[in-house]
Amino acid sequence: MAAAGEVMPTCGGRWAVTVITALTLLAFSGHASAGDVDRGEALYDKHCKVCHSLIPEYHKEGPSLHGIYGKKAGTVPFFAKYVALKGADFVWDEAMLDKWLMDPKAFGRQSTKMTLAISDPQDRGDIVAYLKSMD
Ligand code: HEC
Repeated sequence: MAAAGEVMPTCGGRWAVTVITALTLLAFSGHASAGDVDRGEALYDKHCKVCHSLIPEYHKEGPSLHGIYGKKAGTVPFFAKYVALKGADFVWDEAMLDKWLMDPKAFGRQSTKMTLAISDPQDRGDIVAYLKSMD
């Protein structure tokens, strides 16, 4: 019985490690942070470039996205056309960018002119990874 007493904690430990590994894998496969920057760039060129530039203070229909990751939402200098993000009080991180790209129209109190929505979570994750890499 003494032997069993020694074995039990080891088994419990291994079981815990297995569960943690499984949870980590799940978290990575379903999370935006595992984005592919090159794929994100291609998607950005296809969907976002018409309305956004990455040049500081060069605005199109939407504001310049230069260094947007980590910036306070709705505060790009000299962009006067904010609607949904006017008076926003948060900083762009992965979760908020993901939420924004999923459905910009449903985001603020007033509907934005940003008319597209990216429904594929992998696409959103890759685009966010690209924006993050452009800091
Ligand atoms: C039809 C034009 C249009 C397209 C296409 C578009 N956007 Fe926008 N975007 C806007 C406008 C307009 C705003 C300002 C939002 C507001 O306050 O109404 C904006 C705001 C943003 C912001 C917040 C900027 C800030 O100053 O806080 C981010 C981030 C953003 N867009 C990312 C993207 C990405 C990534 C894509 C491509 C997947 C994209 N946009 C496609 C027009 C567009």
